[in-house]
Amino acid sequence: MSQYPALRLRRTRASEWSRRLHAETLLTPANLIWPLFVTEGEAEEPIASLPGVSRWGLKDIVARAREARDLGIPCLALFPNTPRELRTDDGREALNPDNRMCRAIRAIKDAVPEIGVLTDVALDPYTAHGHDGIVDAQGYVLNDETSAVLVDQALLQAEAGADIVAPSDMMDGRVGAIRGALEANGHVNVQIMAYAAKYASAFYGPFRDAVGSRGLLKGDKKTYQMDPANAEEALREVALDLAEGADSVMVKPGLPYLDIILRVKDAFQVPVFAYQVSGEYAMIEAAAAAGAGERDALVLETLMAFRRAGCSGMLTYHAPLAARLLAG
Ligand code: PBG
Repeated sequence: MSQYPALRLRRTRASEWSRRLHAETLLTPANLIWPLFVTEGEAEEPIASLPGVSRWGLKDIVARAREARDLGIPCLALFPNTPRELRTDDGREALNPDNRMCRAIRAIKDAVPEIGVLTDVALDPYTAHGHDGIVDAQGYVLNDETSAVLVDQALLQAEAGADIVAPSDMMDGRVGAIRGALEANGHVNVQIMAYAAKYASAFYGPFRDAVGSRGLLKGDKKTYQMDPANAEEALREVALDLAEGADSVMVKPGLPYLDIILRVKDAFQVPVFAYQVSGEYAMIEAAAAAGAGERDALVLETLMAFRRAGCSGMLTYHAPLAARLLAG
């Protein structure tokens, strides 16, 4: 038996004030993390496959940090593009305390200390083969050898001033190893956001252009990143990273994995973040350019979807646009 007409769900939707009053989910600039690419030179370098996104030199990166602060964006995520001649099989430039990444962290924390800085812990921007770790003769990424380097990389980033270190490599055991080293070295308040459920995805292409690893990458990342077929395994990954000391966990990519976000949030009640990745950004830009949708609306609707699914926040290249739109 229908409850209609006593119940008309359209009643609360009939006016703007009422829709606002009944909104179940809030989206604010405080939910945004802005990924930024750092380069060697001082000139801005636009990235063709990520229209509207550039690599920045140190001065400009500090300007972006001020812009983010003024927009109410609480946190930046930094990724370096390493000059080709500094990329080696072992990715040792990752451990140079004066590499572009460390200099960018210091420059931002000096100029805009009130903004959070999240750093990527992984070797792919520094390796000649484009993989996230050390490879053996067969090209297999070695787990424990890689993890040991990631520990040193994370410590270096913490010493440079990183507030959140975010291992994106998918090695087993690296969260515990990094947590132990941070504790032993006095970085008790440096957070770990684990890329816990990171899938071997076709949506990372423009990012690999941005950090300059696309042309270098040999093979794929399926022996360490997750199979898109798997959800239970994502819950096991999250459980492990939490047990090892992760403060928050990430699901990546974003929209194609909303089910994973929801299941992780339901199962663990911990802070969950989504990375709306480069390919997702590029799809929205392409849709807008083709007249298939309106950019601003597409951006806000997708970000709201992440919040509805349970995300505390989202990494998105649209962060400054979204923050401007949300400011009205
Ligand atoms: C690698 C890394 C990737 C991204 C962030 N860190 C790509 C990859 O795994 O190959 C992708 C982010 C994006 O596509 O926006 N450590």
